Amino acid sequence: MRNIRMFFVFFLIGVLPCFLWSQDKKIEILEKEIKKQSLREAANAGEKTYKISCLPCHGEHGDSETEAAEYLDPKPRAFTLGEYKFRSTPSGSLPTDQNLFRTITNGVSGTSMPAWEKFLSEQERQNLVQYIKTFSRRFEQWQPDEEILIPEEIASTPGTIAQGERIYQIMECWACHGNTGKGDGPSASNLKDEWQNPIKAYDFTMGNYKGGSSEHDIYRTFNTGLSGTPMPSYYDTFIFTKEGLSDLSNFESYLSKQEIEGIAAWVDTLITDKKFEALTEEQREVLLIERRWHLVHYVKSLTRERGWFYKLFKQDTELTK
Ligand code: HEC
Ligand code: HEC
Repeated sequence: MRNIRMFFVFFLIGVLPCFLWSQDKKIEILEKEIKKQSLREAANAGEKTYKISCLPCHGEHGDSETEAAEYLDPKPRAFTLGEYKFRSTPSGSLPTDQNLFRTITNGVSGTSMPAWEKFLSEQERQNLVQYIKTFSRRFEQWQPDEEILIPEEIASTPGTIAQGERIYQIMECWACHGNTGKGDGPSASNLKDEWQNPIKAYDFTMGNYKGGSSEHDIYRTFNTGLSGTPMPSYYDTFIFTKEGLSDLSNFESYLSKQEIEGIAAWVDTLITDKKFEALTEEQREVLLIERRWHLVHYVKSLTRERGWFYKLFKQDTELTK
C-alpha cells in the first residue's frame, strides 16, 4: 500500500510535470510548423501577384536588374541583400512584416514606387510581404530586432523649433542637407547608396518625405536611419554637454560668424558634464527624448507651402525632374 502511495507521489512531482512540459513543447513545435506552412503558402500566393505588378521594376529574382530600372532614379530596391530603408527597427536590423506591408501599401513618396493600396487587396499585399522575403536568406537566418519605441510627442512651438535649429547645426545635419535644409550641404555631392547608385540628400523644403511626413514618421526615420544610404541613425548621438561643444572651429568653413556666435551662446545654456552625470537614467532619457522632438520640429518647420501648380505635379518628382 505504502509503495503504491509512494509511486503516486513520485509520479505527481516527477513524471507528470515532465509529461505536461513535453506536451506543451510538442504543441509549440506544432504551432510553429503550422505558422511556417501558412507563411510558405502566403509566399507562394504572392509570387503570382509579384510577377504581374512588381517584376517589371524589381526583377524576376528580386535583384532589380531590369530594363525599367536603368531609367529610374532612384533605382528600385534590390531585395537580395535584405536591406531596407523604411523600418521601425534599429539600424542594421531586418524590417518587420508590418514595415514592408506599410511600404507596399503607401508606396514611396516622390519616387516611382507606387502606393498599392488601391490596386491590390490587403491579402495580396500581405502575401507579397512573405514573397519578397524569400529573395534574401537573411530572413531565414535572423529575426528583426525590437522596434524603436516612439515616445509621446511634445507640442511644437517657436521655442522648440529654435532649440531644434541649434541641434541641427551642432549635429552637422547641414553637411548633407544644407544650411537651409535644401539638400545642398558641402558633403551632398557624390553621395552613393550601398547599391552604388548616386543618391541625393533629402531637400526638407519639399515636404512629402519618403518614410512618411508626420512628426512621428520623421522621428522614426532619423532614429532608425535609412539602411543602405549615407543617412546614418542618430539614435545615440543626442548626448551632448556644454564642455563637449566648447570648440566650434570645425563649423567655421561653412557656417557664418554670426551663426557660430549664436551657437556658442546656446551652448552656454546647455547642461554641464557634472550635472548630466548626476541625472538618473530616467531623467537622462527625458532630456534625450526632448532633444529628438526639438530636432523633428525644426526639420518639419523647413517645409515650404507650395502653389497649386507644384501640387498638381508633385507625384514622381524624381522621375520628371
Ligand atoms: C515603377 C517601378 C516600381 C514598381 C512597379 C514597384 N516598385 Fe517597389 N520600389 C521602386 C523604387 C524606385 C523603390 C526605391 C525607393 C527608394 O529607394 O527611395 C522601390 C522600393 C520598394 C521597397 C523597399 C522599401 C525600403 O524600405 O527600402 C519595397 C518593399 C517595394 N518596393 C515593394 C514593391 C512591391 C511588392 C511591388 C509590387 C506590388 C513594387 N515594389 C513595385 C519602384 C517600383
Ligand atoms: C552623410 C550625409 C547625411 C547626413 C550627415 C544627414 N543625412 Fe539625412 N539623409 C541623407 C540622405 C542621402 C537622405 C536620402 C535617403 C533616400 O533618399 O533614401 C537623407 C534623408 C533624410 C530624411 C528624410 C527621409 C525621408 O523620409 O524621405 C530625414 C528626415 C533626414 N535625412 C534627417 C536628417 C537629420 C535630422 C540629420 C542630422 C541629425 C541628417 N539627416 C544628417 C544624408 C545625410
